[in-house]
Amino acid sequence: MELAKEIARRRTFAIISHPDAGKTTLTEKLLLFGGAIHTAGAVKSNKIRKSATSDFMEIEKQRGISVATSVMGFEYKGKRINILDTPGHKDFAEDTYRTLTAVDSVILVVDSMKGVEEQTERLMEVCRMRHTPVIIFINKLDREGRNPFELLDELEEKLDIQTCPMTWPISQGQTFKGVYNLFDKSLNLFEANTSQIGQKLTDIEGIDDPKLADWVGTANAAKLREDVELIEGVYEPYELEMYREGLQAPVFFGSAVNNFGVRELLDTFIDIAPCPHEREASERIVYASEAALSGFVFKIHANLDPNHCDRTAFFKICSGRFERNKFYQHTRLGKKVRFSNPTQFMAQEKNVIDEAWPGDVIGLYDNGSLKIGDTLTEGETLHFRGIPSFSPEIFKVLENRDPLKTKQLEKGIRQLTDEGVAQLFVQYGTRKIVGTVGELQFDVIQFRLEHEYGAQCSFTPLRFHKAFWITSDNQKQLDEFMRRRANVIAFDKEDHPVFFAETEWMLKIAKEDFPEIEFHSTSEFKTKNQD
Ligand code: G4P
Repeated sequence: MELAKEIARRRTFAIISHPDAGKTTLTEKLLLFGGAIHTAGAVKSNKIRKSATSDFMEIEKQRGISVATSVMGFEYKGKRINILDTPGHKDFAEDTYRTLTAVDSVILVVDSMKGVEEQTERLMEVCRMRHTPVIIFINKLDREGRNPFELLDELEEKLDIQTCPMTWPISQGQTFKGVYNLFDKSLNLFEANTSQIGQKLTDIEGIDDPKLADWVGTANAAKLREDVELIEGVYEPYELEMYREGLQAPVFFGSAVNNFGVRELLDTFIDIAPCPHEREASERIVYASEAALSGFVFKIHANLDPNHCDRTAFFKICSGRFERNKFYQHTRLGKKVRFSNPTQFMAQEKNVIDEAWPGDVIGLYDNGSLKIGDTLTEGETLHFRGIPSFSPEIFKVLENRDPLKTKQLEKGIRQLTDEGVAQLFVQYGTRKIVGTVGELQFDVIQFRLEHEYGAQCSFTPLRFHKAFWITSDNQKQLDEFMRRRANVIAFDKEDHPVFFAETEWMLKIAKEDFPEIEFHSTSEFKTKNQD
């Protein structure tokens, strides 16, 4: 069956890392392997440089780059690989979190010198929430880095995941010799090589092969034998099931910029990474192999040209076959919609496609009818889980600077928040509170309101620590809480009450005083309530 065949050959994943660990470089090398690009330097980093925090044009430029590289598809050894790009800048973390809801697995890049960094931890929290399978690539072995055992310890401890080394480095930095493949017991010698994809691979007869010393030197050979013995004693053997459940992470060592260790990573990845499978909707479990189409929107990108207010909605197919020009049910609006120019991204090229399969992400032209989380089906009502809003961390009141443009401001802020640029909460019926995970978003909103909607705004900061969606089976207690704390209660766009905790302490007090109220840090509870 065509559907089953297409599903089995698809691998949809994201590469995640703390900025500068080597995500862009690794992406580029993977595309080189896939023949999707032919020269190094073709993939532009979509990270926003630290110096650019107040330079809006730079942000715009970066947004332009990131739409081109949002999804990169290529073929490798008969597999169709879809890499979903995630913004590097931490202020766009929510965008990254949402992208992670659309992948079947991730590759985490860690800098061997820096180990686990702040963003690595946060991104992994999101993966853990969804039991996403993770492969770890420890990068920059050509530089002096940390002891590999220490690094694995840190990964296990901070990321709360069992690690399983698949390759092992022989020295590092200036004296880096290569990696020993613990799985097929081969040796891969290091050659600095930034432009081509070939590298010397030497088959040896395991760790006891006397030739080992000829290749890597006597001291390194002895150290490797010692390390391997220790590894076999310390780490649990690799188990596919453990990896698939997100409990064990296979670890590779290499140097992305030198294209070293990347082939092993990719070959293992296509072998073990899951193809699209089932996905939980509030109503039922949806299997990729079902004939009827279903999928959801996880990202919306506005046109950079202010004269064209159209947008691209990124739609992830969960089941069935998507066809161009066919009518589908827009679940939230309860109406039929069809798309005459759905696009797919092959490396840098955007092409109109006639069909697409589970695991694929397609771009749908939209003039404002699609929102993040929206579902398309062939008639059934489905709400996919796991596309929540996350609690913002910075809150500001939106002030209207031009009363004659009130309508434009209203429309603009609603549309921008539908796109997921920020979250909007309304207090006392009219006061608009904008919540984001980073300061940059406020610049983005102000700039876009002015240039795309002709509205003028400013922001007044609020001293809130976090927002929590509140629910309770005890309506009386909920009403009482909302009455007593009215100054820190607002409503999200779907009219769910949200509590702004000024501090961690205030949250604790609220929980103690109102034990029957549940405080949710993501909006995931909404889909659960639809059971
Ligand atoms: P990111 O997307 O995760 O933010 O990282 P990116 O790939 O842009 O890499 C960050 C820097 O690390 C780049 O240097 C890149 O060349 C370098 N790099 C990546 N992999 C390796 C590696 O294996 N070894 C070494 N030594 N460096 C590596 P840059 O100076 O910031 O940029 P560029 O001018 O080299 O492009």
